[in-house]
Amino acid sequence: MLVTLRPSVAARSALKQAARAMSTQAEPLVLTRRSDSGKVEIIQLNRPKALNALSSPLFNELNAAMEKADNDPEVRAIVLTGGDKVFAAGADIKEMKDKEFADAYKNNFLGTWGKVGTIKKPIVGAVAGYAVTNAQLGGGCELAMMADILICSEKATFGQPEITLGIIPGGGGTQRLTGLIGKSRTMDMVLANRKINGTEAAQWGLCARVVPAEQSVTEEAVKIAEQIAKFGQVAAIAGKETVNAALELPLQEGLRFERRIFQALFATKDQKEGMAAFAEKRKPTWSDN
Ligand SMILES: *[C@@H]1O[C@H](CO)[C@@H](O)[C@H](O)[C@H]1NC(C)=O
Repeated sequence: MLVTLRPSVAARSALKQAARAMSTQAEPLVLTRRSDSGKVEIIQLNRPKALNALSSPLFNELNAAMEKADNDPEVRAIVLTGGDKVFAAGADIKEMKDKEFADAYKNNFLGTWGKVGTIKKPIVGAVAGYAVTNAQLGGGCELAMMADILICSEKATFGQPEITLGIIPGGGGTQRLTGLIGKSRTMDMVLANRKINGTEAAQWGLCARVVPAEQSVTEEAVKIAEQIAKFGQVAAIAGKETVNAALELPLQEGLRFERRIFQALFATKDQKEGMAAFAEKRKPTWSDN
């Protein structure tokens, strides 16, 4: 009796363990990897079948990955990508169609979606668009704008089509777009549902660089992040913070903020090293101090 019982108990426990492992091994919504140099964290949205449609669970994983990279001293720049087909479609409409005001208000619906905009380290966003026309719309466009430098495929599409659903953008679309491309063009996109491609996005100042359709936007973004990673971290973080202040502060306040940060950098070893290296015609060695 004992002999036949033993293997069956073991088998049952093994089965239970396997079932538990399977149920906890849901596909991650965000993938992370480190570039070859070890200095750039590549964070990739991972809902390919849903065109990386945005949802609160995806943002929970994205925010955690961003915070981890921000706090990791080895990471000097971050690449945010949706892969080489698409960046991100808008929010999942089916998930929000029955939402009510009280619930949205009490639980601060979309409140956690802006976390990427508070990361200290430079973020290079890679917006693909190969053979996909309905991406980077709504939330996807808003998330892309939270990156510091945006690289896009000439085939990328940007739009804020919320008005077609009887709503307006809620993840920064009306505010960030206005700062990037101006009021009239933002109104064209938000009120008239105008969509633009990557070439226009670059002409309008939404993107910094355009990549031909056959080239990998993620690879280009990693190259730019590696370039940033060669410089001292204190100056890179200070540069990001100060440029972002331009979108928030009136000019005199912004100029004062810039000057204070500029003056403060004379307390860093990297300023002494950078200027000494320049005078001695050698390459600087940054200590991030
Ligand atoms: C982007 O849009 C402009 C203006 O509509 C158009 O002239 C251009 O051909 C488009 N580019 C691509 C790659 O589709």
